[in-house]
Amino acid sequence: MIDMDEPAPLHDFVTADAETASAVSDSGPADSGPTESDPAVAGCVQAVVSGAILWLDPSGAVYWPDQRALIVADLHLEKGSAFASRGRFLPPYDTAHTLDRLTRVIRRFNPTRVICLGDSFHDPAAGGRIAQTDLARLATLMGQRDWIWVSGNHDPAQVHPILGASVGEWRAGPLVLRHEAEPDGISDLSGHFHPTALVATRARRVRRRCFVHDESRLILPAFGAYTGGLNILTPAVRRLLERGFKTWLIGDRRLYAVPRKRLLADNSRVTDR
Ligand SMILES: [Fe+2]
Repeated sequence: MIDMDEPAPLHDFVTADAETASAVSDSGPADSGPTESDPAVAGCVQAVVSGAILWLDPSGAVYWPDQRALIVADLHLEKGSAFASRGRFLPPYDTAHTLDRLTRVIRRFNPTRVICLGDSFHDPAAGGRIAQTDLARLATLMGQRDWIWVSGNHDPAQVHPILGASVGEWRAGPLVLRHEAEPDGISDLSGHFHPTALVATRARRVRRRCFVHDESRLILPAFGAYTGGLNILTPAVRRLLERGFKTWLIGDRRLYAVPRKRLLADNSRVTDR
């Protein structure tokens, strides 16, 4: 089970690194995009991947100031309706909820480009089930900026004509943006694994979505509602990371650095990557 409750004792494992890691605050947003002193980006921390400075946001998104790009992974829109079509009923508000959160983070960062790293839709037929209101919201968001759909294993091709085509990967600066990290020696930003971290506090074990990165690779958490997760110590994820990798656990309003020694492995069942 993924425990998404706010764990009161999270400060147990907050490190000095987290307390000082470029947390951003102050002054108002600028037309040219936020700066580190904007309150719009309070709670972010900076990660440097192959020289690219990236802001990791507690929403699960990444903002790349040099590119004025906002990056999200694994929206899994229409997952609820996909389950309903198979007789498993979940509240059918996941797409609207994910779009609400996406709209908020876009407003905060005001990017000129949004890049979705695949599995943006839960299945190829999602475009036929999405509500017209949600589709219109998405089209409005897309119409205001450059929008890149990277294809994923759940959405390998275009799912709706008005959304446009997807690409296999997107290259920007020193990085390749793609759905799944590949151990091919090229620095990348990716999603796919829905990374989570399990840590022990004094009160209990806590599992949260997380960012995980080393000097040449960053894996984003799933942004969408109803998404499961995979422990980053699972060999499928761990093999992609160098020894000194960093983990940023997602709290309600901030990120928490977790030292490697505090991470716990588990045998939880993998749900829907
Ligand atoms: Fe996914």
